Amino acid sequence: MTERVSAPWWRDAVFYEVYLRSFADSDGDGVGDLPGIRSRLRYLADLGVDALWITPFYPSPLTDAGYDVADYRDVDPTYGGLAAFDALLADAHRLGLRVTVDIVPNHTSYRHPWFVDALSAAPGSRERARYLFRDGHGPGGDEPPNNWASVFGGPAWTRVPAADGRPGQWYLHLFTPEQPDLNWRNPEVGDEFESILRFWLDRGVDGFRIDVAHGLIKDAMLPDNPGVRHPGPDHDGTETVHAWDQPEVHEVFRRWRQVLDSYPGDRMAVGEAWVMNAERLAAYVRPDELQQAFNFLFLGAPWAAADMRQVIDASLAATALVGATTTWVLSNHDVVRHVTRYGDGAAGQRRARAALLLMLALPGSAYLYQGEELGLPQVEVAPAARQDPVWERTGHTEIGRDGCRVPVPWSGDAPPYGFSTTAQTWLPAPAGWADCTVAAESARGDSMLALYRAALRLRREWVGAGGGALRWMDRTGPSDLLDFERGGGATRVRCVVNLGAVAVSLPVGDVLLASGPLAGDRLPPDTAAWIRPVDPNRTA
Ligand code: GLC
Repeated sequence: MTERVSAPWWRDAVFYEVYLRSFADSDGDGVGDLPGIRSRLRYLADLGVDALWITPFYPSPLTDAGYDVADYRDVDPTYGGLAAFDALLADAHRLGLRVTVDIVPNHTSYRHPWFVDALSAAPGSRERARYLFRDGHGPGGDEPPNNWASVFGGPAWTRVPAADGRPGQWYLHLFTPEQPDLNWRNPEVGDEFESILRFWLDRGVDGFRIDVAHGLIKDAMLPDNPGVRHPGPDHDGTETVHAWDQPEVHEVFRRWRQVLDSYPGDRMAVGEAWVMNAERLAAYVRPDELQQAFNFLFLGAPWAAADMRQVIDASLAATALVGATTTWVLSNHDVVRHVTRYGDGAAGQRRARAALLLMLALPGSAYLYQGEELGLPQVEVAPAARQDPVWERTGHTEIGRDGCRVPVPWSGDAPPYGFSTTAQTWLPAPAGWADCTVAAESARGDSMLALYRAALRLRREWVGAGGGALRWMDRTGPSDLLDFERGGGATRVRCVVNLGAVAVSLPVGDVLLASGPLAGDRLPPDTAAWIRPVDPNRTA
């Protein structure tokens, strides 16, 4: 118990990702904004989450929905400006909600003053040294400096005109050409970001979500990617090995940790590091680095007991080695929603319900993505309405991420379901969602929303009582089961998840919560239950 008192808040917090542009629109322009979030804080507090992560709200030309920042120290007027941010933060804190913001350090927008200056400056200048400008290869420098591909399709290099108007140097962009990569080997970049972190910490934010954390440092020689001749439709930037997870990236986060620790109140940062190896990922959360990193291994695991168990064990073991907290995440604004990943329709819903009880029973911290509490499936956005640059950059071969980013349905029978007063929302809301609005689900005891509320409430009780490590309760029989216990005494909780095709017997005890109907004393397929085991010492 005493240990809990001093444990920092984020160790077992439940975070809720607010995808700003699609959460709530307060002024009828069809785009979500900060006053919109502020008006829904009560909903989030009642849901039972501990903290918000708000996606980028900075001034941006919106090439990549705001992950292309033109000014890191301001809030775009579309979202309400800095005053709206301060008001939101104050209200959230009053309701006991922490607020973390998205920081995008890998690249700026091409409209950022630094890049504008770099374009008009000479090769070798201080201005160009903030980015990764290089001469091209081959006759006339006509070939890009290496064969790296952009994550969003096409080459990772774009050529700019020289002062005399002739073709000049190339610059690196791991994402769109409108997102030039910063040169993190240049100390000026580190100094600038320390100052940006302080700007938001001084305003009172509780932490940061770090975009593309594993990409900041590239191999200094920018060598060719092995096995790739020309980046084409078959290749993408994720296979560009020399761009990701380089050893020196950890120095950046050691410095950031010092900045965070110099503020009171356990300020934290979570890294978006697509490092699909539990030990390498754990390196980002060593005691003097980031507090958390997203566990995309869990998100990527198929709905199968053996895979899930392997990922859970590997994740817990790797973070335990460095003394960090493990995180769990099923969905975010970059991936297909998990209801759909798990099979869509009734099966997808059932599994998503069971997955929630699994995720919330695991030791550590969980990240929810807006709309998953309503059981929203992936939407197929009509081609003409698509916004994600991936669609155009891949020559219409990849549909992009718009389908998990459509506006949240709040109420009513027709699009945009209370999200905005205009039907002309930035991404269209689909027809047929009248039954999965917040209002509709609030009225149904068996809704996904009701399950989220109940599960988050119960979790708070037992986490508040100490949580505890996970103990697998291996029993002979079906291997399609995940069965573990946490806690002790009166707060002991057992979580059983049936990922198989046949019902299995439930352990003896009181069922605290089940993800779906039980079959007597049996747990049906795709169902999970939290059980309070019968205390052998209990009398009567
Ligand atoms: C991260 C963001 C994603 C964005 C990319 C480039 O992966 O989550 O939405 O497109 O970085 O900034």
